[in-house]
Amino acid sequence: MLCARDIVHCYAREPVIRLPQLKVAAGEQLVVLGPSGSGKSTLLHLLAGVLLPTQGDIRVREQPLGGMSEAVRDRFRGRHIGLVYQNLHLLGALSVGDNLALARYLAGLPPDPSRITDTLERVGLAAYEPCLPAQLSRGQRQRVALARALVNEPSLILADEPTSSLDDANAARVATLLIERAEAESAALIVTTHDHRLADRFKRRLTIGTDGVAT
Ligand SMILES: Nc1ncnc2c1ncn2[C@@H]1O[C@H](COP(=O)(O)OP(=O)(O)OP(=O)(O)O)[C@@H](O)[C@H]1O
Ligand SMILES: [Mg+2]
Repeated sequence: MLCARDIVHCYAREPVIRLPQLKVAAGEQLVVLGPSGSGKSTLLHLLAGVLLPTQGDIRVREQPLGGMSEAVRDRFRGRHIGLVYQNLHLLGALSVGDNLALARYLAGLPPDPSRITDTLERVGLAAYEPCLPAQLSRGQRQRVALARALVNEPSLILADEPTSSLDDANAARVATLLIERAEAESAALIVTTHDHRLADRFKRRLTIGTDGVAT
């Protein structure tokens, strides 16, 4: 599902992350651990094709992300990769339901209102479909971002600290939801976290050291 080799990524010519090799098969689940600033978000953005690495090759569903134009890569991501950003990136001018509808539209998928309602139901937010993100709590917005990442049934799910602002009950709910959706759809799942409530639910781990090397 995902294959990355010899990845180096630099900001202002300074390497921040090195990933010699990573392979994640369909249905596999992995947690990425590392201190703040070690490069977890950068790594997830590389795997999603939001950023292209300074060096190295990343393939998703055997397609090299670096070989795609930006427009093709955006559509490919919309279709096959569900990304939950650390800072959510919900569109404040659109309702919760329309944030999910836009994710389908950008992926070139037909409208599907019942799928949107079902997906919101799964994160416990069906009643909030007509609301604006600003009318929700931070924890509820985090679950909307998760629903948006899942609505197109991606084969690769990437979630950047998805439980960071949730209480124990909601953190457990989000972790279970991610793990169950990934299992049900045989999707590969990669989450970054500092949160032991989430990390402890994964057997496979990738750790980024203070030197930025991911092993
Ligand atoms: N757009 C950018 N331009 C320059 N440097 C950046 C940029 N984004 C991140 N960095 C730097 O790259 C390093 C890794 O950042 P990143 O956000 O990937 O870390 P992180 O592990 O996700 O941290 P956190 O746990 O706080 O979310 C940091 O030193 C950061 O300052
Ligand atoms: Mg981060």
